Amino acid sequence: MTTATQTTSGLRVMISRDEIAKRVHEIAQQINKDYAGEKVVLVGVLKGSCLFLSDLARQIALDTTFDFISVSSYGQGKISSGEVKLAKDVDTPLQGRNVIIVEDILDTGLTLTYLTKLMEASQPKSLKIAALLDKPSRRLKPIQADYFGFKIPDEFVVGYGMDYAERYRNLPDICVLENAGETER
Ligand code: PRP
Repeated sequence: MTTATQTTSGLRVMISRDEIAKRVHEIAQQINKDYAGEKVVLVGVLKGSCLFLSDLARQIALDTTFDFISVSSYGQGKISSGEVKLAKDVDTPLQGRNVIIVEDILDTGLTLTYLTKLMEASQPKSLKIAALLDKPSRRLKPIQADYFGFKIPDEFVVGYGMDYAERYRNLPDICVLENAGETER
């Protein structure tokens, strides 16, 4: 089958859709086990987490709700300003709930450090992080995901929700965007 990934020049598959599906299934199984008999709320961080959240949620066999939050961190440029701002808060109270923040990638850790502090202030029953990708070599803040899919090297990745200038989010595989220059993902 010819895919968008294979026909778009400058893209190299790093993690295939089959590898993603297998790992997402494993993460969901772990969540099912860890929260057996409990309710969870998945809080997706827009926009990059949307495909991961939708695939993960369909494999979670718990009483589950969704919410979404949005932050802006990098402004217009390619280099992070290091500043994270809340653009959209969750719609429902998190107090007393089992919250899992769902992220596509944990990079410098600035976003998730900001979000965990913000959400802890709401006094959830529990708070964990599920990040599909982890790029530990880029970390500026000492934060780790409770559930992660893949540790990756410092290459700029797109697809499966992740973008370059808003493009490529729809690619089913996680791909390296070659010749992307000085970037932060
Ligand atoms: C990406 C990603 C995380 C954040 C991780 O979001 O989705 O939210 O960067 O980086 P950090 O660990 O260095 O903070 P981005 O700002 O690209 O927005 P998007 O999800 O809308 O693509």
